[in-house]
Amino acid sequence: MQKNKYTVTAALPYANGPLHLGHIAGVYLPSDIFTRFLRMNNHDVTFICGSDEHGAAITLRAKKEGTTPKEIVDKYNKIIGQAFNDFDISFDIFHRTSAQIHHETAQDFFKVLEEKDHFTKETSQQYYDEEFHQFLADRYISGTCPNCGNEEAYGDQCEKCGSALSPTDLINPKSTLSGKTPIMRETSHWYLPMQRHEEWLKDWIKEGELGGVQQHDASKWRNQVIGQCMSWIDNGLRPRAMTRDLDWGIKVPVKGGDGKVLYVWMDAPIGYISATKQWAIDNNKNWEDYWTGDRKLVHFIGKDNIVFHAIIFPILLKSYEGLILPDNVPAYEFLNLEGDKFSTSKNWAVWLHEYLESYPEKVDELKYVLTAIAPETKDSEFTWKEYQTRINSELADILGNFVNRALVLTQKYYDGAVPEVGEFSDYDQEVLAEMAAIPDRISKLIYAYKLREAQSEAMNLARLGNKYLADMEPWKLIKDEKNTKRVQTIMNIALQITANLSIVLQPFLPATASKISTFLNYSNDQWSAAGQHNLLSAGQPTAKPSILFQKIEDTMVEKEIEKLNASKTNVPQFEPQKEEASFDDFTKMDIRVGTILEAEKIKKADKLLKLLVDTGLDKRTIVSGIAKYYTPQEVIGKKVTVLLNLAPRKIRGVESQGMILMAENDKGELSFVVPEKEFHPGADIR
Ligand code: MF3
Ligand code: ZN
Repeated sequence: MQKNKYTVTAALPYANGPLHLGHIAGVYLPSDIFTRFLRMNNHDVTFICGSDEHGAAITLRAKKEGTTPKEIVDKYNKIIGQAFNDFDISFDIFHRTSAQIHHETAQDFFKVLEEKDHFTKETSQQYYDEEFHQFLADRYISGTCPNCGNEEAYGDQCEKCGSALSPTDLINPKSTLSGKTPIMRETSHWYLPMQRHEEWLKDWIKEGELGGVQQHDASKWRNQVIGQCMSWIDNGLRPRAMTRDLDWGIKVPVKGGDGKVLYVWMDAPIGYISATKQWAIDNNKNWEDYWTGDRKLVHFIGKDNIVFHAIIFPILLKSYEGLILPDNVPAYEFLNLEGDKFSTSKNWAVWLHEYLESYPEKVDELKYVLTAIAPETKDSEFTWKEYQTRINSELADILGNFVNRALVLTQKYYDGAVPEVGEFSDYDQEVLAEMAAIPDRISKLIYAYKLREAQSEAMNLARLGNKYLADMEPWKLIKDEKNTKRVQTIMNIALQITANLSIVLQPFLPATASKISTFLNYSNDQWSAAGQHNLLSAGQPTAKPSILFQKIEDTMVEKEIEKLNASKTNVPQFEPQKEEASFDDFTKMDIRVGTILEAEKIKKADKLLKLLVDTGLDKRTIVSGIAKYYTPQEVIGKKVTVLLNLAPRKIRGVESQGMILMAENDKGELSFVVPEKEFHPGADIR
């Protein structure tokens, strides 16, 4: 088989918070599976990641936590790096964009592009926050999205509809620093004239659509990626600023760059290159070998990163000259959680590091579930219930059960030694043929980035084994001595299937595969070995197995769901609008259900109605400012909520003995507040 060379990258996570399962399912786990598989096939591969430590994502987080950007990136680089490690993601390097070598690499990149005249310099009016003395780009400015009306769109992107924005597109722009409306001020920046690249980009993306010049499945881009790129191009590429007026970031290394840093989306992807450089230094390699020639560059990313990896970074790479462009950009959709979007601000998330703390022995279980539900072509959802079902009825009942049976019976019948194989029956041959076909199917799927299906194909081997034993029933045959030979053959086949599992599961469930290897006293990390039925030789000792997967109890599911719900409500969703009220303050109020008996307008007061209300205790007069929303006729007979012990006040000459409670929406419209059931006047509200 042809050996290829690969440089595989996983999007550099912002070091501004921990990782949740959505990040893992859609970037880090698939890239890890892909890379492990490539290694088993002896491709020359390096797997690159690191933390993205510049940009407003970091500085705004620092402001929120009341600390410095440096503290933030150090803190989260550590948490994230540790979580990747504990989850056994097999990066060759996990680097950081704050490293010196990255600053130098990015600056070199900028200088080269500047020298080659790939930038234009433009002066323009930009939003500026007078209170914070800062220009407002990207996440420093928010406002209403002109495309979907989302009121919290950022100056670079609307996270709701995904459209790319610039600050001047926002309706009602506000500084995210001061919350105030910004002024305009002049500044100048280096721009990447993207429109110059339209022609080759179009051709190149077309190639991606077809699977490259050689039209390989492996190089076929996902529809979503093609779609987003073409819509950008069709809308007309425009110059995009590559510098910012900020002090956190990579200093602009050319004349006139004082006080300016590189745009984070220019700096971060170059992080893939600088990480490769560091890895090459550590391992006595040449970094250029990993970024030039006939090597395949593959970027695993989330869908919100598409344009940066499939348009902007390729423009930068091409302009630099001599470096390879991505062969594929497998982008993932989003994972939801229990019916809602993952949300850091609402604390609606399952955090990887917390999961690993609680269940350090359940790494492969989580990997399995996340791959099974990975949002490859559409958004998908994680629920704890499904986590339980997949583990119990797939991992435990199928894979775990089969491996355990094969090994336990071998212990029982042969003291653990692999039995001799005799003649194959037709059914045996069928099973072996099926086993032989599976690795190739998995392989094709992985090369085409269909990891969900690939994993389920690997599980089919366990299904096959399980069914084989259930159909053959060696535990019944063994009772009759004339079957001795037959049972040996059956058990040999079952063990060969088990050995095959230890190979094909490696990319997906490395810890499980290695446990199986230990049970069998057999290990093989060569994909090409998979499919064969003589991996184990007769007489070879095997060990007593332990249980591969513990069943997930209902109590765990309940606990996790409770934890989620509790953390959600603990986080205030808004700044309190009023001063805190004590319980006593509240119980002082006598609030009851009432019925309106009479109503009339008050002369010369177009907002007011004079009402006679039955409170259950008495009938009293109340003046209420509802006349714009209710006519006297329509309120008669209506149930309302009344505050009875409000001090009486004279309004337009009428004494009002209480207050009708009203709900008011953001348009200022009023509505009565009433109990949802038919309650009589006098019912207490508390
Ligand atoms: N930090 C970015 C995000 O989380 C991804 C950066 S990928 C890189 O969305 F290529 F720019 F590094
Ligand atoms: Zn929008």
